[in-house]
Amino acid sequence: MTITEPTTQARPEAASAHPVHPVPVIIDCDTGVDDALALLFAVRHPGLDLRAVTCVAGNTDVDQVVRNTLTVLDIAGAAPGLPVARGAERPLIEPARFAEHVHGRDGMGDLGLPAPATRAPVDVDAVTLLRREILGSPRPVTLIPTAPLTNIALLLRTYPEVTRNIERIVFMGGAVAVGNATPVAEFNVWHDPEAAAILLTAGVPITMYGLDVFQRVLVPPADVQRLRASAEPGARLAGDLLAHRDPAASGDPTPTGNLGDAGTVCAVADPAGLTTRLLPVEVSLAPGPTRGQTVVDRRPRHGESEIHHGAREKPLVDVALDIDVERYLKLYLGTVEKR
Ligand code: RIB
Ligand code: CA
Repeated sequence: MTITEPTTQARPEAASAHPVHPVPVIIDCDTGVDDALALLFAVRHPGLDLRAVTCVAGNTDVDQVVRNTLTVLDIAGAAPGLPVARGAERPLIEPARFAEHVHGRDGMGDLGLPAPATRAPVDVDAVTLLRREILGSPRPVTLIPTAPLTNIALLLRTYPEVTRNIERIVFMGGAVAVGNATPVAEFNVWHDPEAAAILLTAGVPITMYGLDVFQRVLVPPADVQRLRASAEPGARLAGDLLAHRDPAASGDPTPTGNLGDAGTVCAVADPAGLTTRLLPVEVSLAPGPTRGQTVVDRRPRHGESEIHHGAREKPLVDVALDIDVERYLKLYLGTVEKR
Protein backbone atom coordinates (compact mmCIF):
# COMPACT_ATOMS: atom_id res chain seq x y z
CA MET A 1 0.00 0.00 0.00
CA THR A 2 1.60 3.28 -1.06
CA ILE A 3 0.94 6.11 1.31
CA THR A 4 -0.36 9.29 -0.23
CA GLU A 5 1.45 12.60 -0.13
CA PRO A 6 0.48 15.27 2.43
CA THR A 7 -2.72 16.98 1.43
CA THR A 8 -4.94 19.64 2.82
CA GLN A 9 -8.22 17.92 3.25
CA ALA A 10 -10.37 18.14 0.12
CA ARG A 11 -13.64 19.07 1.72
CA PRO A 12 -16.87 20.81 0.74
CA GLU A 13 -16.92 24.57 0.66
CA ALA A 14 -15.60 25.88 3.95
CA ALA A 15 -18.39 26.87 6.27
CA SER A 16 -16.43 29.98 7.14
CA ALA A 17 -17.11 31.38 3.67
CA HIS A 18 -20.38 33.25 3.31
CA PRO A 19 -22.51 30.24 4.26
CA VAL A 20 -25.09 29.63 1.56
CA HIS A 21 -25.89 26.38 3.31
CA PRO A 22 -24.61 26.00 6.87
CA VAL A 23 -22.96 22.60 7.41
CA PRO A 24 -25.24 20.25 9.37
CA VAL A 25 -23.26 19.06 12.42
CA ILE A 26 -23.86 16.95 15.51
CA ILE A 27 -21.49 17.06 18.48
CA ASP A 28 -20.98 14.07 20.79
CA CYS A 29 -19.26 15.38 23.90
CA ASP A 30 -18.17 14.78 27.50
CA THR A 31 -18.53 18.40 28.66
CA GLY A 32 -15.73 19.17 29.98
CA VAL A 33 -13.97 22.49 29.96
CA ASP A 34 -12.90 22.29 26.33
CA ASP A 35 -16.07 20.59 25.13
CA ALA A 36 -17.85 23.66 26.51
CA LEU A 37 -15.57 25.90 24.44
CA ALA A 38 -16.48 23.78 21.41
CA LEU A 39 -20.22 24.07 22.06
CA LEU A 40 -20.01 27.85 22.45
CA PHE A 41 -18.35 28.07 19.04
CA ALA A 42 -20.68 25.61 17.32
CA VAL A 43 -23.78 27.46 18.52
CA ARG A 44 -22.46 30.83 17.37
CA HIS A 45 -20.75 30.09 14.05
CA PRO A 46 -23.09 31.03 11.16
CA GLY A 47 -21.60 28.39 8.88
CA LEU A 48 -22.61 25.53 11.18
CA ASP A 49 -26.10 24.13 11.67
CA LEU A 50 -25.86 22.42 15.07
CA ARG A 51 -28.68 19.88 14.89
CA ALA A 52 -28.15 17.90 18.10
CA VAL A 53 -25.77 17.31 20.99
CA THR A 54 -25.25 13.90 22.59
CA CYS A 55 -23.51 13.18 25.88
CA VAL A 56 -21.20 10.39 26.99
CA ALA A 57 -19.16 9.61 30.10
CA GLY A 58 -15.57 10.73 29.85
CA ASN A 59 -14.26 13.82 31.62
CA THR A 60 -16.93 13.24 34.27
CA ASP A 61 -20.02 11.06 34.74
CA VAL A 62 -22.65 11.18 32.01
CA ASP A 63 -25.32 12.89 34.14
CA GLN A 64 -22.91 15.69 35.01
CA VAL A 65 -21.98 15.87 31.32
CA VAL A 66 -25.68 16.34 30.46
CA ARG A 67 -26.05 19.04 33.13
CA ASN A 68 -22.91 20.85 31.95
CA THR A 69 -23.97 20.63 28.31
CA LEU A 70 -27.42 22.08 29.01
CA THR A 71 -25.92 24.90 31.06
CA VAL A 72 -23.43 25.81 28.33
CA LEU A 73 -26.12 25.75 25.62
CA ASP A 74 -28.26 28.07 27.76
CA ILE A 75 -25.39 30.55 28.19
CA ALA A 76 -24.42 30.24 24.51
CA GLY A 77 -27.93 31.22 23.48
CA ALA A 78 -28.68 27.98 21.64
CA ALA A 79 -32.18 27.51 20.23
CA PRO A 80 -34.50 26.22 22.95
CA GLY A 81 -35.45 23.22 20.83
CA LEU A 82 -31.89 22.02 20.18
CA PRO A 83 -32.10 18.33 21.21
CA VAL A 84 -29.67 16.99 23.82
CA ALA A 85 -29.58 13.32 24.80
CA ARG A 86 -27.90 11.23 27.47
CA GLY A 87 -25.71 8.38 26.23
CA ALA A 88 -23.38 5.73 27.55
CA GLU A 89 -22.40 5.94 31.19
CA ARG A 90 -19.30 3.77 30.73
CA PRO A 91 -17.11 2.39 27.94
CA LEU A 92 -17.87 -0.86 26.07
CA ILE A 93 -15.33 -2.89 28.05
CA GLU A 94 -13.40 -0.67 30.49
CA PRO A 95 -14.87 0.91 33.63
CA ALA A 96 -15.42 4.67 33.45
CA ARG A 97 -12.20 6.52 34.37
CA PHE A 98 -12.94 10.23 34.70
CA ALA A 99 -10.57 13.21 34.23
CA GLU A 100 -11.78 15.43 37.06
CA HIS A 101 -8.18 16.15 38.02
CA VAL A 102 -8.04 18.10 34.74
CA HIS A 103 -11.59 19.46 34.40
CA GLY A 104 -12.53 19.89 38.07
CA ARG A 105 -15.00 17.90 40.15
CA ASP A 106 -17.97 19.18 38.12
CA GLY A 107 -16.15 18.84 34.81
CA MET A 108 -16.49 22.58 34.22
CA GLY A 109 -13.54 23.93 36.11
CA ASP A 110 -15.62 24.05 39.32
CA LEU A 111 -16.92 27.46 38.21
CA GLY A 112 -20.11 26.94 40.21
CA LEU A 113 -22.36 27.55 37.19
CA PRO A 114 -26.11 27.37 37.83
CA ALA A 115 -28.10 24.33 36.82
CA PRO A 116 -29.88 24.73 33.47
CA ALA A 117 -32.97 26.90 33.90
CA THR A 118 -35.53 25.21 31.67
CA ARG A 119 -33.50 23.30 29.08
CA ALA A 120 -33.75 19.51 29.54
CA PRO A 121 -32.58 16.42 27.68
CA VAL A 122 -34.96 14.75 25.23
CA ASP A 123 -36.73 11.56 26.30
CA VAL A 124 -34.72 9.25 24.05
CA ASP A 125 -31.15 8.00 24.47
CA ALA A 126 -28.19 9.37 22.54
CA VAL A 127 -28.01 6.57 19.98
CA THR A 128 -31.69 6.96 19.12
CA LEU A 129 -31.30 10.74 18.80
CA LEU A 130 -28.19 10.37 16.64
CA ARG A 131 -30.01 8.00 14.28
CA ARG A 132 -33.07 10.26 14.11
CA GLU A 133 -31.13 13.45 13.45
CA ILE A 134 -28.65 11.93 10.99
CA LEU A 135 -31.26 10.19 8.85
CA GLY A 136 -33.62 13.14 9.24
CA SER A 137 -31.13 15.73 8.00
CA PRO A 138 -31.89 17.10 4.53
CA ARG A 139 -28.12 17.16 3.82
CA PRO A 140 -25.38 14.77 4.96
CA VAL A 141 -24.26 15.41 8.54
CA THR A 142 -20.73 16.00 9.79
CA LEU A 143 -20.37 14.17 13.10
CA ILE A 144 -17.97 15.77 15.61
CA PRO A 145 -17.12 13.50 18.56
CA THR A 146 -15.04 15.36 21.16
CA ALA A 147 -15.19 12.56 23.73
CA PRO A 148 -14.74 8.82 24.17
CA LEU A 149 -16.37 7.13 21.17
CA THR A 150 -18.75 4.84 23.04
CA ASN A 151 -21.95 6.45 21.70
CA ILE A 152 -20.58 6.47 18.15
CA ALA A 153 -19.62 2.79 18.32
CA LEU A 154 -23.04 1.83 19.68
CA LEU A 155 -24.67 3.88 16.91
CA LEU A 156 -22.61 2.22 14.15
CA ARG A 157 -23.35 -1.26 15.51
CA THR A 158 -27.05 -0.63 16.17
CA TYR A 159 -27.99 1.43 13.09
CA PRO A 160 -25.23 1.01 10.44
CA GLU A 161 -27.57 2.55 7.87
CA VAL A 162 -26.78 5.98 9.31
CA THR A 163 -23.55 6.05 7.28
CA ARG A 164 -25.57 6.81 4.16
CA ASN A 165 -26.20 10.33 5.46
CA ILE A 166 -22.87 11.05 7.17
CA GLU A 167 -20.60 13.42 5.24
CA ARG A 168 -17.59 12.88 7.48
CA ILE A 169 -16.66 12.13 11.09
CA VAL A 170 -14.15 14.67 12.45
CA PHE A 171 -13.15 13.36 15.86
CA MET A 172 -10.96 14.76 18.58
CA GLY A 173 -8.86 11.81 19.59
CA GLY A 174 -5.67 9.91 19.18
CA ALA A 175 -2.11 11.08 18.72
CA VAL A 176 0.54 10.50 16.10
CA ALA A 177 3.39 11.11 18.49
CA VAL A 178 2.80 11.54 22.24
CA GLY A 179 -0.20 10.65 24.39
CA ASN A 180 -1.67 12.26 27.49
CA ALA A 181 -3.58 9.52 29.33
CA THR A 182 -0.51 7.32 28.83
CA PRO A 183 2.83 7.99 27.13
CA VAL A 184 1.28 6.87 23.83
CA ALA A 185 -2.52 7.04 24.21
CA GLU A 186 -4.83 10.05 24.09
CA PHE A 187 -7.64 10.17 26.68
CA ASN A 188 -10.72 9.83 24.41
CA VAL A 189 -9.29 6.75 22.68
CA TRP A 190 -7.70 5.34 25.84
CA HIS A 191 -11.02 5.66 27.71
CA ASP A 192 -12.74 3.31 25.21
CA PRO A 193 -10.26 1.77 22.74
CA GLU A 194 -12.73 -0.75 21.31
CA ALA A 195 -15.14 2.06 20.49
CA ALA A 196 -12.38 3.98 18.71
CA ALA A 197 -11.51 0.88 16.69
CA ILE A 198 -15.16 0.57 15.62
CA LEU A 199 -15.20 4.24 14.61
CA LEU A 200 -12.17 3.78 12.35
CA THR A 201 -13.97 1.08 10.39
CA ALA A 202 -17.17 3.12 9.95
CA GLY A 203 -16.77 3.24 6.19
CA VAL A 204 -17.18 7.02 5.92
CA PRO A 205 -14.48 9.72 5.55
CA ILE A 206 -12.78 10.29 8.91
CA THR A 207 -10.53 13.10 10.13
CA MET A 208 -8.42 12.48 13.22
CA TYR A 209 -7.86 15.74 15.12
CA GLY A 210 -5.25 14.38 17.51
CA LEU A 211 -3.09 15.76 20.28
CA ASP A 212 -0.38 16.76 17.79
CA VAL A 213 -2.56 19.69 16.68
CA PHE A 214 -4.99 19.81 19.66
CA GLN A 215 -2.29 20.98 22.06
CA ARG A 216 -1.01 23.82 19.87
CA VAL A 217 -4.03 26.14 19.80
CA LEU A 218 -3.31 28.33 22.86
CA VAL A 219 -5.20 31.57 23.50
CA PRO A 220 -2.83 34.39 24.53
CA PRO A 221 -3.29 35.70 28.10
CA ALA A 222 -4.45 39.14 26.91
CA ASP A 223 -7.32 37.56 24.95
CA VAL A 224 -8.26 35.39 27.92
CA GLN A 225 -8.35 38.45 30.18
CA ARG A 226 -10.48 40.37 27.65
CA LEU A 227 -12.96 37.52 27.45
CA ARG A 228 -13.13 37.25 31.25
CA ALA A 229 -13.98 40.97 31.47
CA SER A 230 -16.73 40.72 28.85
CA ALA A 231 -20.25 41.80 29.72
CA GLU A 232 -21.58 39.10 27.41
CA PRO A 233 -22.12 35.83 29.34
CA GLY A 234 -20.95 33.48 26.57
CA ALA A 235 -17.70 35.33 25.95
CA ARG A 236 -17.16 35.61 29.70
CA LEU A 237 -17.72 31.87 30.15
CA ALA A 238 -15.16 31.19 27.41
CA GLY A 239 -12.66 33.35 29.29
CA ASP A 240 -13.31 31.65 32.62
CA LEU A 241 -12.98 28.21 31.02
CA LEU A 242 -9.77 29.19 29.22
CA ALA A 243 -8.40 30.51 32.51
CA HIS A 244 -9.06 27.17 34.22
CA ARG A 245 -5.74 25.53 34.62
CA ASP A 246 -5.04 21.86 34.80
CA PRO A 247 -3.54 21.77 38.29
CA ALA A 248 -1.07 19.21 37.07
CA ALA A 249 0.12 21.60 34.37
CA SER A 250 3.27 23.70 34.74
CA GLY A 251 3.25 26.27 37.50
CA ASP A 252 2.73 29.04 34.95
CA PRO A 253 0.30 31.47 36.65
CA THR A 254 -0.72 33.22 33.42
CA PRO A 255 -4.19 32.04 32.34
CA THR A 256 -3.23 30.80 28.89
CA GLY A 257 -5.93 28.44 27.77
CA ASN A 258 -5.95 25.67 25.25
CA LEU A 259 -8.92 25.72 22.83
CA GLY A 260 -8.81 21.93 23.00
CA ASP A 261 -11.94 20.36 21.54
CA ALA A 262 -13.02 23.70 20.08
CA GLY A 263 -10.22 23.36 17.52
CA THR A 264 -11.98 20.27 16.18
CA VAL A 265 -15.09 22.32 15.41
CA CYS A 266 -12.96 25.11 13.92
CA ALA A 267 -11.55 22.48 11.56
CA VAL A 268 -15.09 21.69 10.37
CA ALA A 269 -15.99 25.37 9.98
CA ASP A 270 -12.75 26.15 8.14
CA PRO A 271 -11.02 22.97 6.90
CA ALA A 272 -8.32 24.90 5.06
CA GLY A 273 -6.67 25.67 8.42
CA LEU A 274 -5.81 22.02 8.94
CA THR A 275 -3.18 20.03 7.05
CA THR A 276 -3.97 16.34 6.90
CA ARG A 277 -2.52 13.24 5.32
CA LEU A 278 -4.45 10.10 4.39
CA LEU A 279 -2.71 7.42 6.45
CA PRO A 280 -3.41 3.93 7.82
CA VAL A 281 -4.42 4.08 11.48
CA GLU A 282 -4.99 1.26 13.96
CA VAL A 283 -5.93 1.32 17.63
CA SER A 284 -3.88 -0.91 19.92
CA LEU A 285 -6.33 -3.03 21.92
CA ALA A 286 -3.80 -5.30 23.57
CA PRO A 287 -3.59 -5.07 27.36
CA GLY A 288 -0.43 -3.34 28.49
CA PRO A 289 1.52 -0.12 27.85
CA THR A 290 0.26 0.50 24.31
CA ARG A 291 -3.47 -0.05 24.92
CA GLY A 292 -5.41 2.85 23.41
CA GLN A 293 -2.52 4.02 21.22
CA THR A 294 -3.46 5.18 17.71
CA VAL A 295 -0.77 3.58 15.59
CA VAL A 296 -0.35 5.86 12.56
CA ASP A 297 1.68 4.32 9.72
CA ARG A 298 3.81 7.10 8.19
CA ARG A 299 6.27 4.78 6.46
CA PRO A 300 6.85 5.46 2.73
CA ARG A 301 6.76 1.71 2.00
CA HIS A 302 6.02 -1.67 3.58
CA GLY A 303 8.53 -3.21 5.98
CA GLU A 304 9.67 -6.66 6.98
CA SER A 305 6.43 -7.22 8.87
CA GLU A 306 4.41 -7.08 5.65
CA ILE A 307 7.08 -8.94 3.69
CA HIS A 308 7.12 -11.86 6.13
CA HIS A 309 3.56 -11.84 7.43
CA GLY A 310 1.58 -10.16 4.65
CA ALA A 311 -0.06 -6.73 4.65
CA ARG A 312 -2.99 -6.20 7.05
CA GLU A 313 -5.99 -4.15 5.92
CA LYS A 314 -5.82 -0.89 7.89
CA PRO A 315 -8.41 1.91 7.91
CA LEU A 316 -7.30 5.03 6.03
CA VAL A 317 -7.84 8.23 8.00
CA ASP A 318 -7.20 11.91 7.24
CA VAL A 319 -4.74 12.51 10.07
CA ALA A 320 -4.14 16.12 11.13
CA LEU A 321 -0.40 16.83 11.01
CA ASP A 322 -0.32 20.63 11.06
CA ILE A 323 -2.62 23.48 11.98
CA ASP A 324 -2.83 27.23 11.30
CA VAL A 325 -3.00 28.34 14.93
CA GLU A 326 -3.43 32.05 14.24
CA ARG A 327 -6.20 31.35 11.73
CA TYR A 328 -8.19 29.28 14.22
CA LEU A 329 -7.62 31.67 17.13
CA LYS A 330 -8.97 34.51 14.97
CA LEU A 331 -11.89 32.36 13.85
CA TYR A 332 -12.74 31.26 17.39
CA LEU A 333 -12.48 34.67 19.06
CA GLY A 334 -14.23 36.41 16.17
CA THR A 335 -17.12 33.96 16.45
CA VAL A 336 -17.58 33.64 20.21
CA GLU A 337 -17.16 37.37 20.91
CA LYS A 338 -19.43 38.46 18.09
CA ARG A 339 -22.72 39.17 19.86
O1 RIB B 1 -7.39 14.18 25.38
C1 RIB B 1 -8.18 15.34 25.32
C2 RIB B 1 -9.63 14.99 25.22
O2 RIB B 1 -10.05 14.27 26.39
C3 RIB B 1 -10.55 16.21 25.16
O3 RIB B 1 -11.67 15.89 24.39
C4 RIB B 1 -10.96 16.42 26.59
O4 RIB B 1 -12.21 17.10 26.71
C5 RIB B 1 -11.09 15.00 27.05
O5 RIB B 1 -12.36 14.52 26.63
CA1 CA C 1 -13.89 16.19 25.38
